[in-house]
Amino acid sequence: EKGGFASFMDKEIHDQPHAVADTLLGRTDVRGQLVLDEVRIDESVLRAVDKIVVIACGTAAYAGHVAKYAIEHWCRIPVEVELAHEFRYRDPVVDEQTLVVAISQSGETMDTLMAVRHAREQGAKVLAIVNTHGSTIPRESDAVLYTHAGPEIAVASTKAFLAQITATYLLGLYLAQLRGNKFPDEVAAVLAELRAMPDKIQQVIDRSGRVREIARWMADTQSVLFLGRHVGFPVAMEGALKLKELAYIHAEGFAAGELKHGPIALIEPGQPVFVVVPSPRGRDSLHSKVVSNIQEIRARGARTLVIAEDGDEAVRPFADEVFYVPQAPTLLAPLLAVVPLQVFACELATAKGLDVDQPRNLAKSVTVE
Ligand code: M6R
Repeated sequence: EKGGFASFMDKEIHDQPHAVADTLLGRTDVRGQLVLDEVRIDESVLRAVDKIVVIACGTAAYAGHVAKYAIEHWCRIPVEVELAHEFRYRDPVVDEQTLVVAISQSGETMDTLMAVRHAREQGAKVLAIVNTHGSTIPRESDAVLYTHAGPEIAVASTKAFLAQITATYLLGLYLAQLRGNKFPDEVAAVLAELRAMPDKIQQVIDRSGRVREIARWMADTQSVLFLGRHVGFPVAMEGALKLKELAYIHAEGFAAGELKHGPIALIEPGQPVFVVVPSPRGRDSLHSKVVSNIQEIRARGARTLVIAEDGDEAVRPFADEVFYVPQAPTLLAPLLAVVPLQVFACELATAKGLDVDQPRNLAKSVTVE
């Protein structure tokens, strides 16, 4: 069943190019326009949406954080991302013009389900992005956009995460197309970039030998930090979550810009820090800001493990290790940058002799509040 892999998680990491490709499949017409006719929410309602609230837990919430950057950029609609259990127990400002997007691999997470009910009681429309057919959350939502990652067995989410991010891109592009924020050829151009991602994810997997080696050497590590900016920030948080849940190592993800507001005090000689570097071809000074963050922590003795785009030579002088990933548009890059972090956590936990697929204290779907 594991197809020759040591764990389901390792297999599911390798399934990721398919998970993304299958989630994209069949969602465009012959003219290349997006058709999400499964999203049974009236087009007039979607045109009138003035706010999107993403509700989810854990890894699914990090997919929501990535979605925020993409949807706000493409659609100019404000997007909030909230942990479902926090949303549920405050008095959220949502109404008929709010689109609530509930993201869940299992479709059974009780916290997310309760938040869906709460949102609908306030009159919001709820669109579920779910991987498991026939599960409860889609049944209780106004519409569902399925991710096609296939069954995910390992407790740690990997391929569902990439499929969730992909589905939110489709949603964002669909809304942009519907509301006229983007011309059809602009949407088609992003879709073409998106269709190129499965091959690039495959390349990251093919190159993962070095990150596996480093992970095995680091089996005794006590703490690892993860830094990122922009879409690299949720990637950093996801990298930290994977390491906590699989390897029981203290790990934290930070927005790189926060360093000088506190976390830099944690840096002492030898502290391993993963840094997710944005594309140097991307926006403004984003890249150079992250490079100076690497310099700052390196100067204080951090061991810098850098994830950067092919051709980015600027990071080399300050990196103890660089894991290069193929070039991609900034907003789509999380689909690549997170893969070495998944591999790192999986390999390190395996090296520690831990049960990668069934980490202690965790369940695959959390059906209690
Ligand atoms: O099934 P869901 O996507 O609703 O689950 C949400 C979280 O419980 C889940 O992502 C959890 O954080 C994973 N163990 C992360 O690897």
